[in-house]
Formats: sequence, structure tokens, C-alpha cells
Amino acid sequence: MKPFLIKLALNNIILEDEFKQAVQEFKTIEIIGELDQKKADLTVFELESESDLDRIQSYIKHTEDTEVFLLSGNSDPQVLIKAIRMGVNEFLTLPLKPEGVKESVRRFLDRQKKRKRTSETSGQIISVVGSKGGVGTTTIAVNLAVSMAQAGKELSVALLDMNILFGEIPMLLNISPKYHWGDIIKNMDRLDDFFLSNILSEHSSGVHVLPSPRYLNNQPVPPPSAMDTLLDLMTARYDYIIVDLGQSLNETALKILQRSEQIEIVTIQSLPCLSNTNRLIKSFVDFGDINKGKINVVLNRYLKKGMVTLANAQEGVGKTISWIVPNDYTTTMSAINSGKPLYQVSPRSQIVECFNDYVEKNLLPHEKKEKKKWKWF
Ligand SMILES: Nc1ncnc2c1ncn2[C@@H]1O[C@H](COP(=O)(O)OP(=O)(O)O)[C@@H](O)[C@H]1O
Ligand SMILES: [Mg+2]
Repeated sequence: MKPFLIKLALNNIILEDEFKQAVQEFKTIEIIGELDQKKADLTVFELESESDLDRIQSYIKHTEDTEVFLLSGNSDPQVLIKAIRMGVNEFLTLPLKPEGVKESVRRFLDRQKKRKRTSETSGQIISVVGSKGGVGTTTIAVNLAVSMAQAGKELSVALLDMNILFGEIPMLLNISPKYHWGDIIKNMDRLDDFFLSNILSEHSSGVHVLPSPRYLNNQPVPPPSAMDTLLDLMTARYDYIIVDLGQSLNETALKILQRSEQIEIVTIQSLPCLSNTNRLIKSFVDFGDINKGKINVVLNRYLKKGMVTLANAQEGVGKTISWIVPNDYTTTMSAINSGKPLYQVSPRSQIVECFNDYVEKNLLPHEKKEKKKWKWF
């Protein structure tokens, strides 16, 4: 995790040393100098005379998202009130008492962590799981993501491929990503916003893709803890993270499912698939501690004249089918062969309308959301 940056804007070297000594034990902070260009999470000033207040006030006004501590030998209540009104977060009287400094920094860290948690829980994870191989899980995941990014609501959407050997998203979107999540797992200690922004590839639809390694070659399966860290960062950056889970049902997949707002289980009109779906739902609920309400069944490649009727399908699954996707061999095949999402191949087709309709009615917020800004450094 990135350390919280504390900038010491102190003219007095002895005071600077005393502060550094007092906070030595904190491992999640890094002290930087006044001239350092990095954006600090906390800036510490010394108030030598009351006139310094104007300079500090202007700093607070022009610097977003930074806390300010004031160190001062003057504990005049008038000055204190003025400082607090300006937005100073902590006021420490001189001479510095190490315990007092520690207490204030501890409170600062608590506030930062709380803030981070609230912002990190804002993105929603939608997992797409196959009840069998070849039922259209990747097709559904890719085109859901694209439809969400194209919905005109300025939503930021990421697509994460968890199929270890058969990750096909880059092929379906005709992109050649330089990195995959295997690179992240190998460099977990470097994982931060900056690293993540360099690793995801942007598709012309606006979707940011994090592909899978696609070969075994010593690729470790990401442990659940690593997945947690990755999802923390992704949910902080994106409004939606669509995960193509394929049929992976290991501990890491379970972690993703537990963190998902919605789970789409993809099935087709075949009895073995429907019965697998039924068992998958039961396992998720009974062993994975997953709320049944967030599981949706997607009946893909639907044919009205299929041998298994819709009523039979629902009976087999033991749950109402949430979404029916028509069988459209021509459009899906030409999408695969041209490396384009369905909407770029046939924008007016029934299958594209079906994606847009489901996204609009079931996945998108009804209030227009403010776009999250992707920070490029
Ligand atoms: N709605 C559909 N209609 C017709 N063919 C489809 C549909 N959805 C997927 N397919 C086809 O099924 C095959 C498998 O799809 P894919 O998304 O790769 O499945 P999975 O990820 O479950 O292995 C592909 O050839 C794809 O074009
Ligand atoms: Mg697939």
C-alpha cells in the first residue's frame, strides 16, 4: 500500500527532527520536505507569528485533500479558534511532546483510512460465471462491460479476466495488452494507482481491460488476499468492474463472488447445464455464504423452439431466469472473427438491444453518476 505523505513545512531543523523522532514508529507514513513536489496527505506548519495565518489559509484554500497541523508556542485561544475556522485539523503547542504528536498522527491516519474505505467501496463488482464451458460467459462479460461503458452515463468500466488458461478477452476486443494480472501478483508490493493505470489497456469502447496471463509458466493463482488488494484499488478507480470468472471456483473466485454486488450465472437450454446452474446456486448460497438475491440466471443462446422450454428451464434451475439472450450465431461469430464487440458489428441487432436493455434496467444507476476521474500521472 502507498504510504501517507506528511510534508514538513518547518523552518526549524530541530523541530523537524523532533517531529520525525516522534513518528518514527509509524510504518504507513513517509516524511517529505517542503520543496517536494508530491502531493502531501498532511502538511505541518510552524506558526511563528499571527501573520503566518494568512499564508497558511491561502495554502489550505488552494490545496485539495490535505490535512494541516499547526505547531505553535502561542496557545492564545483567539489564534486557536482562528486556525480551526480556517480548517486546520490539529494544533500542537511547543515545546513538542512526542506522545501528543503520536496521538495526532494516529488520529490523522484513522481519518485517512476511513476516507479511503468509503471511496473504495464505491465501485460495484459484477461477476459473470459459466455453468459449463462454452455457454457464452466471455461473450456475456465482454458485451456487458461494453454496453455499460457505452450507455451514455459516463461510467468508468473495467473488465477483469480470471480465466487462467483460456483468457480470450484481448482476442475478442482485438487489443494487445502488454500486461496481465500475473504481472500484478508478481509485483504486489508495487501495486498502487499509478502501477494499475499503467497495466490496464483501454479499448475504443472506453472499457479498461485487465487480461489473464493465458499460459501457466509459473503463474501463481492470485491468492485471495492479493485479489482483495487489487479489487480495493479497482473499486476505488472504476464505477463498475465486470469479472469474467469462467468456471473457476477456487478460493480466489469465491472471494470475488462474495465481494460482487451481482453475480450472473450463464446457462443454456440444455438439461445438464440447467442442473449445473441449480447446483452452483446451492453451493454459492450454502458454502460460499452468498446472498441468493444477488444471483441472476442468464439464459444464453435462447431459441423459442428449443427442446427445453422456458418453463422447464426455470424449473430445472429452481430460480426465475433474470435475463434471456437470443441465439444469434451470425452476429456473435462475426464479432469473434473481427475482434469487435457485438455493438460495433451490428448496432441494431436484437442481441445488442438485449444487452443494452438489461444494462439499462438492471445494472445502471437510475441517477446519473458523476464520472470518476482517471488520474494519469
Ligand atoms: N447468444 C449467442 N448466440 C449465438 N452464439 C453465441 C452466443 N453467445 C455465445 N455464442 C458463441 O458460443 C461460443 C462460446 O462463447 P464464449 O463466450 O467463448 O463462451 P465461454 O466463455 O463460456 O467459453 C462462441 O463461439 C460464441 O460466439
Ligand atoms: Mg470464456
